[in-house]
Amino acid sequence: MNAESLAQIYDGFASAYARNRDSFDLHEVLEEFSSGLPQKGDLCDLGCGAGEPVSRDFADRGWHVTGVDFSAGMLELADDFVPTMTTVLGDMREVDFDEQSFDAVTAVYCLFHIPWRDHPALFENIHRWLRPGGQFLFTYATREYTGSDEFEGTKDFMGQPLFYSHTTPTRLSEQVAAAGLEITSAVNRRIGGETFLWVTAYRPALRA
Ligand SMILES: C[S@@+](CC[C@H](N)C(=O)[O-])C[C@H]1O[C@@H](n2cnc3c(N)ncnc32)[C@H](O)[C@@H]1O
Repeated sequence: MNAESLAQIYDGFASAYARNRDSFDLHEVLEEFSSGLPQKGDLCDLGCGAGEPVSRDFADRGWHVTGVDFSAGMLELADDFVPTMTTVLGDMREVDFDEQSFDAVTAVYCLFHIPWRDHPALFENIHRWLRPGGQFLFTYATREYTGSDEFEGTKDFMGQPLFYSHTTPTRLSEQVAAAGLEITSAVNRRIGGETFLWVTAYRPALRA
């Protein structure tokens, strides 16, 4: 499935997705992640969708939020729901920001829509966009979600076949480390009836 088709599917169910979003309670995840961050700063929310709940949580706390998504339908909602955020329409693999632009980067429930072989280049960019000490939070699919150690194919989501991809947690850790990011935690969490690996990593002051 190419990026255009996936973006069109998200365009098609943007409103329905946003209405259902409350069933995935990220309160605890966001509280834990925020506890290691400055009170205010710059966040890049990759695959921000309708801006709920990640962009909104940071914006409400006075952060400047830049959300990236390739679904125009999702970004229209984000502009409505979180008017203070800046939205960028584009594929997260193709957008670029200046070096050290952000104190935090999030990629919640979206990296699994990108072939895992494309992740190393994205991780390199995220490392570059983060300020030293900056933190990265992302959700990763594993066998708990797809039933396979490594997966590339479609799975049904809200009645639509969506592309999903992941490799093993071990290879994922190698990819993150190769980009110069250090993993601080990687835990399976069951939220809204679905289990994903939740990973936090940071950009060390000096690259190893
Ligand atoms: C499951 S939704 C998650 C949205 C939001 N992060 C949340 O937690 O509700 C996945 C989002 O990622 C976006 N997305 C998927 N692949 C993308 C890509 N390569 N570039 C930009 N956005 C992408 C989709 O358009 C969709 O809005």
